[in-house]
Amino acid sequence: MFATMGAFGLAPTAEAARREPAFQAPRRSDFTLKGRSAAKVVIVGGGIAGLAAAYELGKAGYDCTVLEARERTGGRNFTVRGGDSTTDTYGNRQTARFGGGQYMNAGPARIPQWMVTLDYCRELGVPIEVFTNVNANAYIFNEQSGMKAPVRHRTAKADVYGYVAELLAKATDTGALDRRITTEDQERLLEFLKDFGDIGDTLAYTGSSRRGYRIDPAAAGTPGEELGFVPTASEVFASGVGRYFSFEFEYDQAMLMFQPVGGMDRIPAALTRAIGERRIRTGAAVSRIDGTDHGVTVTYTRSGRTRTIEADYCIAALPPNILAKTSHNLGPAVQTALEACRPSSAGKIGLEYRSRWWETDHRIYGGITETDMDLAHVWYPSYGFHGERGVVIGYYNYGSQADSYAALTPREREARAVAQGVKIHGEKYRSELASSFSHHWRQTPYVEAAWHSMAGGPDAPVFAPLNQAAGRVYFAGDYLSHTDAWQHGAFTSARKAVTALHTRVLA
Ligand code: FAD
Ligand code: ALA
Repeated sequence: MFATMGAFGLAPTAEAARREPAFQAPRRSDFTLKGRSAAKVVIVGGGIAGLAAAYELGKAGYDCTVLEARERTGGRNFTVRGGDSTTDTYGNRQTARFGGGQYMNAGPARIPQWMVTLDYCRELGVPIEVFTNVNANAYIFNEQSGMKAPVRHRTAKADVYGYVAELLAKATDTGALDRRITTEDQERLLEFLKDFGDIGDTLAYTGSSRRGYRIDPAAAGTPGEELGFVPTASEVFASGVGRYFSFEFEYDQAMLMFQPVGGMDRIPAALTRAIGERRIRTGAAVSRIDGTDHGVTVTYTRSGRTRTIEADYCIAALPPNILAKTSHNLGPAVQTALEACRPSSAGKIGLEYRSRWWETDHRIYGGITETDMDLAHVWYPSYGFHGERGVVIGYYNYGSQADSYAALTPREREARAVAQGVKIHGEKYRSELASSFSHHWRQTPYVEAAWHSMAGGPDAPVFAPLNQAAGRVYFAGDYLSHTDAWQHGAFTSARKAVTALHTRVLA
């Protein structure tokens, strides 16, 4: 009966328990009969973690002040539109010249269905739309592996699945699995493989309409013409195209994915509105955090003046590599933990085009082209279909690839990205270009990292001092989660800090 009630939504189900994190937002009524009242909290850092903490505490009437060093909230959640300017730590100043309605998400760009980020979009009224993470019509181009021309994702997939199915089917058919599975299961496996690889009763892969067509099927009399020339199994495996297909199996990358309509920064914008602008001080760079016996003193500089703010508690929601450089009296174990969070690099370039040639000439509507070149990934926009212009992400790369582009001037980055992209897309990649904007996170002031590598994960003993309060100072940020480099990690770590702080205040 309980299960039936669950199915009707009248009782909690196991599925609901999995989907809904056990987070209870603080409420004003929590203080009723407790003889306690909401405390004063200063939150350092106005990225997703800091904003989420202020938003959740605000629900119970906490007196929150967010100190954010930059002139905008959002932190790594940064959407670049025409007129936006940045100066990186190397001194490169850029102003985006994108046309109206065009944007690039320089940081977060995609949201899986299971992440709490979508719950915040729902709660805050941020409209969402599908983000195309995998597109059969996008390309794969492994230049370093010797490919001479790009192949469509669908073509490469048909060939890889076809040959893998053939090899496994033949191994099965020649008895190689006799000692592993029963004859009956071998029959079932063969049935599966015939369909999976489109190899028919011959169990030989000789191509498939799944690879695509040179002339598409149309009216009677035009049956279409399949792509010719099927590479050998050896050629397919040597090209390395197979390495991209497991991406869509990943728990955090599987379709469907989503994005806020109009840019990822709709999320921090909505949080900022919900918290109330008067509670957020931008342009306020914190230089010191001191715990005292009864509270916290935070020192910051704003408009050239150094000021202090006293509070009962602090949530330090700035990146660990930045906090490690900030003066504090939180103890050597905290400092050791902060220094153990190693910053990683990532960069993106937005290339704005006068026409959407990838839609008209290549029939690509969103999605990603994968390469083994230094640009790594090319993203086609998942918004503005059939419009006049569009912004392609010409590179999204990490580590040393990102650093090598960061070392160039923005003009040189553009030239290098375009020269690489022409090899995949042809001359329009150069001739239709209107403007570009590149962004590198290791070189972004007050962030200086795309994300962090944490040896042993966030629960390793060295990080324990950050997973609890240091006196009256709590820590939050995506790095303190098992989904680093996802806003979900920032949101959930903020929820954890809020819960711990609120429980203490109530106690
Ligand atoms: P931050 O955003 O870094 O916020 C820290 C804040 O502290 C900043 O605003 C900073 O200016 C401020 N600050 C620093 N020093 C001081 C100081 N001294 N005084 C005051 N303020 C200070 N997530 C997704 O969900 N989907 C994606 O597709 C995705 N892709 C990504 C791609 C890239 C290239 C990058 C870089 C990130 C991506 N992420 C993605 C991850 C996501 O951006 C982060 O998880 C999230 O934004 C981190 O939020 P945070 O609040 O923990 O940190
Ligand atoms: N989570 C980041 C992305 O999906 C790294 O690109």
